[in-house]
Amino acid sequence: MKNFISLNNVDSLDALVQLAAEVKKNPFGFKKHTENKTLGLLFFNPSLRTRLSSQKAAFNLGMQVMVMNVDKDGWVLEMEDGAVMNQGKQEHIKEAAAVISQYCDVIGVRTFASLTNKEDDYAEAFLSKFIKHALVPVISLESATLHPLQSLADVLTIEEHKKIAKPKVVLSWAPHPKPLPQAVPNSFAQWINATDYDFVIANPEGFDLSKEFAGSAKVIHNQDEALKDADFVYAKNWSSYQNYGKSAPELTDWTITSKKMKLTQQAKFMHCLPVRRNVVVSDEVLDSDASLVIEQANNRTFSAQTVLLKLLDYEN
Ligand code: CP
Repeated sequence: MKNFISLNNVDSLDALVQLAAEVKKNPFGFKKHTENKTLGLLFFNPSLRTRLSSQKAAFNLGMQVMVMNVDKDGWVLEMEDGAVMNQGKQEHIKEAAAVISQYCDVIGVRTFASLTNKEDDYAEAFLSKFIKHALVPVISLESATLHPLQSLADVLTIEEHKKIAKPKVVLSWAPHPKPLPQAVPNSFAQWINATDYDFVIANPEGFDLSKEFAGSAKVIHNQDEALKDADFVYAKNWSSYQNYGKSAPELTDWTITSKKMKLTQQAKFMHCLPVRRNVVVSDEVLDSDASLVIEQANNRTFSAQTVLLKLLDYEN
């Protein structure tokens, strides 16, 4: 694996999930290829889970870690080739990516969508440029359109909890006071489409995900209908792809409540976190035995560890 920015970088989803399960059973048993290597983590946006689980993953593999909040502590990066840099941007991404590559064996980058420039966001303008100039493998720590480390953890969590071979998995839009990127639901859809689960996406009219990621999933605009007989409910807010960046905080009847969960087949509840309580999901659901959110967060460590192994040439 050269880089990890999408499911498209993965040869076999089954083999990757299997390796993640093995890593989880024996987290300190895979250091041979990774000991004394260095992971650099570059954050252009906030994080709790990605930051800490990636560090934990590296520690489990005997690696060193360097973390930088580039948006706060770094020079402002120029992205344009041929730019005359006589304004506010002090460093070109060409030098920045190449220099960081001297210090690290793998670089993780978190860079969210602008939600103002759909073309640039969906072209992964920043991440693509960074990868072009980096000299070592790059891991997406959530990009403009995808969050593959989260999706690997999510598939591992479903595999651990499914009671039937082909569970019904419902990705449901939920309300939120602010417009959020489509990265988590895009990525979840991309990965679940690669499984043989029965996959349904529930969202209001005008909030369909990009076809590139929603693929062949069944899209239903009636949440109650979609939740019927679900085995897993994955709640997430996303802003509109069609009317780019538009949100709908007024649609409070899309909050996942106990009443909604009663429509399901005693479904497990999932969310990538952070989550707004009693906006996205009620306390009652989040605090119930049905909630897998802490287990998902725990699996982020093994997801990151698995990807680091693959990037550093571990062979099954
Ligand atoms: N789920 C997730 O990526 O969490 P953070 O934004 O806290 O890293």
